[in-house]
Amino acid sequence: MLILFSQLFYLCVLLESVSPITNGNFRPDEPASGDYPFHALLLQRIELTNDWSPLCSGGLIHPQWVLTTAHCTQTPNSKPSEIRVSLGSIHINGENSQTHDLQRIIVHPNYTSMDNTGIGLNDIALLELNEAAKLGPRVQPIRLHMNDKQLLFEKMAYLTGFGKTSSHGSLSSRMRKAAMHITDSTKCALVNYADSKICATSFLAEGKPCTGDSGDPLFITSKNNKPVLLGFLIYITQSGSCENDNNNSVFTRVSSYVPWIATATGINLKIFSNI
Ligand SMILES: *[C@@H]1O[C@H](CO)[C@@H](O)[C@H](O)[C@H]1NC(C)=O
Ligand SMILES: *[C@@H]1O[C@H](CO)[C@@H](O)[C@H](O)[C@H]1NC(C)=O
Repeated sequence: MLILFSQLFYLCVLLESVSPITNGNFRPDEPASGDYPFHALLLQRIELTNDWSPLCSGGLIHPQWVLTTAHCTQTPNSKPSEIRVSLGSIHINGENSQTHDLQRIIVHPNYTSMDNTGIGLNDIALLELNEAAKLGPRVQPIRLHMNDKQLLFEKMAYLTGFGKTSSHGSLSSRMRKAAMHITDSTKCALVNYADSKICATSFLAEGKPCTGDSGDPLFITSKNNKPVLLGFLIYITQSGSCENDNNNSVFTRVSSYVPWIATATGINLKIFSNI
């Protein structure tokens, strides 16, 4: 009975126009230019050629600041000169993008990289751009979710990214969007799971994050239709494949770090309203 129900549910999801990042044979949900103007694509310098290649994603939270994972800034190292931020493009090649060099990388002081459960603690970092981004229809900061007490369980949230389109495939040339269901921490089965993280899953037809999706912004829409940043992707509990419907993903919960973000950046976060 239970199985039948879940199959029916699956069918409904499937019929209801589908989304994806990794999504097997389903039609990918590819946002239009300007739909998610807070999405930041991080690029890393390739030493030999001096070219820049896609590294991770993040969220623009202020004209001069991007929020992302700490682990993304450790490859190859934490030097600002090794990372750039591309804003305003739905194309991984940066077509029509604004590219910014970094002035500073601020990694959370208590960040510890992966332990034997595979997940880092306080996996969060701030990137300060050299100059303020030019805001417009395709480049806009996102509000932070401020309420660290709010129960997010069973909420629907969305994810944008350029990660692999299949477990053994390549990065997506266009931005994709996935629909995520927030689950409880037991689903992430992590020793290190704490309140400062979010666990979420999706059916393959809704899109599932894969390699290359680190730092992808996880967001909801507020009552006045403005996007609100809940977290960003740090880990996928996959079993050798990004395509298992039941596998969950782990996100750093932004509201747990609001005091640190305010102090580290000096931004007046009161201008960001609660939802
Ligand atoms: C880092 O950890 C120390 C020791 O637990 C704590 O006192 C400090 O407040 C933490 N720093 C931040 C920014 O959370
Ligand atoms: C991922 O999904 C597969 C297939 O459903 C399952 O066997 C495995 O236990 C899941 N892994 C985790 C960590 O949830």
